Amino acid sequence: MTALIEHVRALIAKEGPLSVERVMGLALSDPTYGYYATRDPFGAAGDFITAPEISQMFGELIGLWCTVTHEQMGAPPDVLLVELGPGRGTLMQDSLRASARIERFCAARRVHLVEASARLRAIQSARLAPEPVSFHERLEDMPPGPILIIANEFFDALPVGQLVSTPDGWRERVVATHGGALCFGVGPSPATNLPTWLPPAQAVPEGTIAEHAPEREQVAALIGQRLARDGGAALIIDYGHGASACGDTLQAVRAHRRVDILAQLGDADLTAHVDFARLARAAERAGARAYGPIGQGRFLQALGIDARATRLMQGATQEQAAQIRSALERLTAPSAMGELFKAMALTAPGLPAPAGFEAFAARAPALAYG
Ligand SMILES: C[S@@+](CC[C@H](N)C(=O)[O-])C[C@H]1O[C@@H](n2cnc3c(N)ncnc32)[C@H](O)[C@@H]1O
Repeated sequence: MTALIEHVRALIAKEGPLSVERVMGLALSDPTYGYYATRDPFGAAGDFITAPEISQMFGELIGLWCTVTHEQMGAPPDVLLVELGPGRGTLMQDSLRASARIERFCAARRVHLVEASARLRAIQSARLAPEPVSFHERLEDMPPGPILIIANEFFDALPVGQLVSTPDGWRERVVATHGGALCFGVGPSPATNLPTWLPPAQAVPEGTIAEHAPEREQVAALIGQRLARDGGAALIIDYGHGASACGDTLQAVRAHRRVDILAQLGDADLTAHVDFARLARAAERAGARAYGPIGQGRFLQALGIDARATRLMQGATQEQAAQIRSALERLTAPSAMGELFKAMALTAPGLPAPAGFEAFAARAPALAYG
């Protein structure tokens, strides 16, 4: 039994069953027992691999996206370059290197990282030295000024709640105990504050699960407010769906395999699909414009990943060239990360469509998100 399971059992004994949202929050971010607080989970020896860890091309292209967007913003002489949930710092390291020759951008950028895990902050700091980096626990703590925000696989690490359809309405899915073990259950009364897109519980089969993510929407709203107030843009890349729909997408992964969600709480990564439509809507309500989402493959191809791979293969050994080809395939192929992973941009109103999202330029926000 993990230390977090003991902790959750003690909380349930004291407070009664806990919502899935609360348990997911504890599992990922509890400062003592949480998954990210207690380990470096990335890479072949860890639990999962993310796009920046697959290839330097990912961070490099995002670095160039930032330089182009900075120019679109009118090249302010000071710009906060912010990454939310930077993991090992690899994406930021690759993007800083790729943008190093763009003098105006380099003179303007100030790197700020939002990271909840003290352990990962130490890894990021070492990785990015000697670049001056400011750390924050929350986006709210960021100083004012024009801003460029990058978030790769950050939103999927924020908790979701789950609702279950019953004959008398939607109820919160909860975690309870049975014979000492953790198990899923259903809350005692119909839930309130339901997401507006949700169909009536009686219109879907009994037991249908739907997810809602107030914390994710709060962060998107905060980004939207910030962009509308100070100018700038955000690039959000994650796995998920473009339109809100019912479904249970919560999953636990350990050592690159799916495992039982409650059996290894705190020792396995817990994620759930990102509902891009909800993020876009929250940011637009706060005053920003939203573009996309589009498949990660299409986005990276629009930024020139094929040309970058060809360039890297020149002068590479056969083995290196094979690795570059395989990384390209993994990042862009629809059967790999090319479609399930999606990119969405948020901008201050009045900015042109960001690189990669030009096809959305003529589309009114209301048409895109209803
Ligand atoms: C799935 S990892 C992604 C890491 C990195 N962006 C990458 O692509 O490799 C999620 C990151 O978000 C951080 N994180 C999770 N919840 C957070 C929160 N509430 N506030 C700040 N950082 C958080 C984790 O510690 C970790 O660095």
